[in-house]
Amino acid sequence: MTTLEEDARAVLPAAVFDYYRDGFGAQVTRDEATAAWREWRFVPRLFRDVSRVSTEVELFGARLAAPVLAGPTALHTLAHPEGEAATVRGVEAAGSLLVLSARAGRPLAEVPLRRPWWFQSYVLRDREITERQVRAAVAAGASAIVLTADAPYVHPRPVPQAGALSPATRPAGSEQDPALNSAAIAWLAGISGKPVLVKGVLGARDAAACVDAGAAGVIVSNHGGRQLDRVIATPRALGPVAAAVAGRVPVLVDGGIQDGGDVLTALALGATAVLIGRPVLWALAAGGADGVRDCLDLLRTDLARAMAQTGLPTIGDIDADVVTRG
Ligand code: FNR
Repeated sequence: MTTLEEDARAVLPAAVFDYYRDGFGAQVTRDEATAAWREWRFVPRLFRDVSRVSTEVELFGARLAAPVLAGPTALHTLAHPEGEAATVRGVEAAGSLLVLSARAGRPLAEVPLRRPWWFQSYVLRDREITERQVRAAVAAGASAIVLTADAPYVHPRPVPQAGALSPATRPAGSEQDPALNSAAIAWLAGISGKPVLVKGVLGARDAAACVDAGAAGVIVSNHGGRQLDRVIATPRALGPVAAAVAGRVPVLVDGGIQDGGDVLTALALGATAVLIGRPVLWALAAGGADGVRDCLDLLRTDLARAMAQTGLPTIGDIDADVVTRG
């Protein structure tokens, strides 16, 4: 357990801590997520001028302090009374970008979104509900839509003190559409007028098919091991996905990323940026907006340190040669 996780455990009710932490079933996928990044080793380069190191990137027009985003996670109000309102303040203070979950604990109007942000959407059985949510997000300034495609069914888990968006109060038709197909990508792009990234891609063929169907990006993710156990670890899926996408669109990745070395490995394996799930929740619980800012700042400075030590002054200098397996 990381220090951050221990800090969160000390302040959170046990049911909330478990809800955030748990994966599915025997937890094989959740438990191996971080270790899988650490199967790669760095091959530093010498005689590179690293007197200045920049982690800055631009992604879909947004300037980011580092290629590290706060991924979509549900119900931040369980971690902190201000919920997503505190999260976004921390994320923006760190120069990062929040992907706001469709299952946020606070209504959009109560989340002070100032810098670029993205909206995560499911496609629900009732498309009108989906359309309303997406249009509201775009009206509130969302600059991209993340379509989470790896959850045809929600794994029924107890949601502690479920807030306004608990399953019991959701209208009929608001469960995910299990008959979803890739035409949803173009449909979402059409109603939003924004780039659509598909989240939950683990196979090379799916990745290529998403791009062919109009995806502006793909996110390699196993949903933090929460949908199905013994799903492939994301670092192992990333290389083949990046090869299939072949630079046509950005490839993002999440799952178990905890330090700058994990981020550097992800970028070397072909990712354009990474998303952080649980660590942001732990930071929010333990330290509110400042905690979230510090968590993302630490990842950025740790990435800069790893880049300096491997002879890579800019994100654009990172390539596959800087890592080797085992
Ligand atoms: C999630 N995740 C998720 N994904 C999504 O697309 N929409 C959502 O609402 C949620 N909700 C959610 C809640 C909680 C408590 C967790 C832990 C995760 C999945 C999330 O975006 C991401 O894929 C993983 O959490 C990434 O792994 P790490 O960083 O948590 O290890």
